[in-house]
Amino acid sequence: MKKLHFTSEFNCYDNENELSESHFILTKLAIEATKNAYAPYSQFYVGTAIELSSGVVVQGSNQENAAYPSGLCAERVALFHVGHQFPNESIKTIVITAKSSIHDTQKPVVPCGACIQVMSEFESRQNTPITILLHGNSGLVYESIGLKNLMPLTFELK
Ligand code: THU
Repeated sequence: MKKLHFTSEFNCYDNENELSESHFILTKLAIEATKNAYAPYSQFYVGTAIELSSGVVVQGSNQENAAYPSGLCAERVALFHVGHQFPNESIKTIVITAKSSIHDTQKPVVPCGACIQVMSEFESRQNTPITILLHGNSGLVYESIGLKNLMPLTFELK
């Protein structure tokens, strides 16, 4: 028996002002996207902004439904929009943030496993790493170059 070890590495910024200008702007666009979240059930308003290779930015927000599992996370709302509207472009960067008056959003928002799985497949299709920025309202931002830091093993059909 052998053990497999995986390591994760994140760049941590104490404040949004430490980000590059393009990442700072993308973070503001993710924050703006929270305004369009429809989250009356969880009151957790998630926003994302995805920058494509052409420079186009796609925003997304979570969309809930009274039949709870019918709703969708902000990341997959935006990712599947990219897949359909911009099938020939690659994703450079994804920023995720959230706001809520009842849940803690100070710490960087970590995407759910299903969204990481979907992001991972976009990454393997385009064959270049996606930079993912996890934003918290304290100003703290975690940056990962590639999805492997979040999910080292993903489900694949080969
Ligand atoms: N949510 C997202 O939009 N993204 C995630 O990665 C995790 C959770 C949404 C789903 C639901 O509308 C609310 O946050 C609470 O789970």
